[in-house]
Amino acid sequence: MSDPGPIRVGMLGLGNVGAGVAAVLFNKSEQLADSVGRGIQLRRALVRDPARSRPIAPPPGVLTTDPQQIVAADDIDVVIELLGGLSPARELIEASIANGKHVVTANKEVMAHHGAELLAQAAERGVDLYFEASVGAGIPLIGPFRQNLTANQFSAVEAIINGTTNYILTRMAAEGSDYGAVLSDAQRLGYAEPDPANDIEGHDAAYKLAVLATLAFGVEVRPESIYREGIAGLAAADFKAAADLGYGIKLLAIARLRDGAVEARVHPTMIPRGCLLCQVGGVENAVRIQGDLIGNATFVGRGAGPEPTASVADLIDLSHNLALGAHARVPLRVGASCSFRPIEQVRSRYYLRLWVKDQPGVLARIGSVFGAHQVSIAAVTQKETDDDASLAELVIVTHQAVERDMQAAVNEAGALDITDRVANLIRIEDIP
Ligand code: HSE
Repeated sequence: MSDPGPIRVGMLGLGNVGAGVAAVLFNKSEQLADSVGRGIQLRRALVRDPARSRPIAPPPGVLTTDPQQIVAADDIDVVIELLGGLSPARELIEASIANGKHVVTANKEVMAHHGAELLAQAAERGVDLYFEASVGAGIPLIGPFRQNLTANQFSAVEAIINGTTNYILTRMAAEGSDYGAVLSDAQRLGYAEPDPANDIEGHDAAYKLAVLATLAFGVEVRPESIYREGIAGLAAADFKAAADLGYGIKLLAIARLRDGAVEARVHPTMIPRGCLLCQVGGVENAVRIQGDLIGNATFVGRGAGPEPTASVADLIDLSHNLALGAHARVPLRVGASCSFRPIEQVRSRYYLRLWVKDQPGVLARIGSVFGAHQVSIAAVTQKETDDDASLAELVIVTHQAVERDMQAAVNEAGALDITDRVANLIRIEDIP
């Protein structure tokens, strides 16, 4: 049989992650060729400025400023998209697919918004679209959903999938510090972006949850269908109260399929201090899945950074298939529609912290408001008083209640003349 030659790769983007991928292709070329059965050659890489100094020095002719030299070139078999953001990444992925190239992308935003249509385009054109690094960097998550675990019916994904916020929350819990101080320090140390909105407001986690939930449930879950709250409202007092109750606080991404409807949400969540997810600290990610055959399984590891993101799992899988002449072997088709359960209908337990006048009859009035809205109180603690002892801080934990009822109860309790202010409302999930 004639030598088919190496698998020819074009990269869109050569930033931190791209340079990591290129370094793996250069430094581990023999190991990769042995494992795959064919060499993998970096043929071209799209950059903004070819003259810029880089940690890797690609051979002459590799760098280009013209994306058509990659997405439309006859000598490229696989396009690796590492530009990030929606545009032009999406258009270049579409062009690559239309031109018969296999695509590997780490782009959670594109996959969250357009994954279903891109997968359909790839299936139509007979090429593969891989996106393992879009969620959890090098932690194998997409592969198990697409291949190893496909016989399962999944009912839940509960995940810590944003390293920046997990770093901030871990430090707030450990140090008793307030949010603003830890965020500034995280930015100084490079753990949080100068503009941290995408992470701290939960957008990044929502994109990743959209990708995971779509795979888990086989229906299109888009970011617009995901309820989202960020971490900026959390205070040191919430971590102290949570610890006293036996809980930690995490930015949890939750997707569940119940009674034929999907609920999907990203928000600060109290979870038991002893559970595995609560032990996952710093920039680590953890994804807990529930399937009818596998039961509960949790994947834990580094969810960001050039090395884990550049572990090239997709490229190995794809190249292996190409070497065997068996690509497009796991087409992924996503059902178009499903019903979503809006946050108002979600059931949860709740933690509420509020400041009230420290005088007779206050607890009874608060209690009757909750009762009138069908919210059953499980525990109440009067935490402390303010400087002149006229106000008291109450922490209320409820039994399971419907979100709409809980919000109505909080609004009404907050408007009472005995209430100074509602400090925070946090959902509780008793994950084992
Ligand atoms: N900004 C992300 C995080 C990393 O903090 O987890 C890339 O997905």
